[in-house]
Amino acid sequence: MQKRYFIKTYGCQMNVYDSERMQDVLAAQAYLPAETMEEADVVILNTCHIREKAAEKVYSELGRIKRLKMQRQKAGKEFTVGVAGCVAQAEGEEVMRRAPVVDMVFGPQNFHRLPELLGNKQQRPVELDFVANDKFDTLPAPRNTGGRSAFVSVQEGCDKFCTFCVVPYTRGAEYSRPVKDIIEEVKQHLDHGVIEISLLGQNVNAYHGAAADGSEWSLAQLIEHLAEFDQIKRIRYTTSHPRDMHNDLYRVHGEIDKLMPYLHLPIQAGSDRVLHDMNRKHTAAEYIAMVEQLRSKRPDIAFSGDFIVGFPGETDEDFEATLRVVETVHYASAYSFKYSTRPGTPGATRSDQVPEEVKGERLARLQALLNKQQEQFNARMVGKTLPVLFEKAGKHANQWLGKSPYMQSVHVPAGRPLEGQMLDVHITQAGPNSLGGELV
Ligand code: 5AD
Ligand code: SF4
Repeated sequence: MQKRYFIKTYGCQMNVYDSERMQDVLAAQAYLPAETMEEADVVILNTCHIREKAAEKVYSELGRIKRLKMQRQKAGKEFTVGVAGCVAQAEGEEVMRRAPVVDMVFGPQNFHRLPELLGNKQQRPVELDFVANDKFDTLPAPRNTGGRSAFVSVQEGCDKFCTFCVVPYTRGAEYSRPVKDIIEEVKQHLDHGVIEISLLGQNVNAYHGAAADGSEWSLAQLIEHLAEFDQIKRIRYTTSHPRDMHNDLYRVHGEIDKLMPYLHLPIQAGSDRVLHDMNRKHTAAEYIAMVEQLRSKRPDIAFSGDFIVGFPGETDEDFEATLRVVETVHYASAYSFKYSTRPGTPGATRSDQVPEEVKGERLARLQALLNKQQEQFNARMVGKTLPVLFEKAGKHANQWLGKSPYMQSVHVPAGRPLEGQMLDVHITQAGPNSLGGELV
């Protein structure tokens, strides 16, 4: 009988991408996907370390898995448990110690070695080296998932060392993949019918990859090149740092229709003092100027962002500055978090931590404002015609779901399957989290 795997993914889109590529590796070894953990022979948790809560989830999940493994072993069946991703990278040895149920631990740069690790699980292997190109050189081609949208990692790691963030420690130094490798991966997706490419990187707009002619391409150059492929209809990129928003990126936003008018551009906080303490190396005014510049090039562009409330030393006044930025920018959607002290980061050692209740109050106020803006943004779509890339059947009969250029879920009634098609939809209704409409 063929073995089955189940991968549970936590955290960001980098992890979603990594899980996809792990599936490519396992598929090449003749593993099949399992619908649930209970049906799997190999379970992998692809973990996130960004906030304490995310990291804790892993241990509670491992508790559940322990019972599952005991049942399987009683039945005389093999059951392999792997912990991957950023918790593995940050505290892999501790995971092994704390959770005897775990058979192997490997980091974000090591999952290409899964076949070896699976063969060696009696030794409880721990693989946490950082050699990004090594991984990309050995990964099998992406398998055909039947989807029309694909992620392609172009840049990994981070050298920016924001004082709240563990990424530079869990994902290592900034690294840009060579142009040729990226194009090869994109073409493999195009062979499978993909029409939307999302370029991924922790600092994707810092991309500077080696091109065949010996020059270095920027992200803008890469986007311009991809736009020349007829089959590609939509291009996205995420996540960007304000510090790396360069002129050529502004230009391509104005020139390339296929580049979606939607940008995730986190500011984190609105007070210049807090931004300085966070080591973000830009001011709120500079950020707002970027937003304005992008809007002048592409009037229909919308923004999403990330926010942290309660960074050490943040006063009420500082927090008000964050609300002011939000009022000025008007976000289409956003993620916001209470500051979480992360081991090894400079923020964690500060003595002026903000009390939890204060963080909670600030987060509630911020989220109320962001939710209101998201609703307003969605409401503004009513009466417009938007191209929608349909992905799957909806909950109701004869209903299909897809994504607008702004990543909004759009549901449409139709008597025929729409999956995989990009069609114009006249938007007739808007809710807080989705839109409804009719095919044009
Ligand atoms: N506490 C809270 N939020 C954090 N983020 C990163 N580190 C922390 C932390 N220590 C948030 C930032 C980042 C997003 C991915 O997670 O907003 O942009
Ligand atoms: Fe973390 Fe800052 Fe790097 Fe983003 S830029 S991954 S927030 S250190």
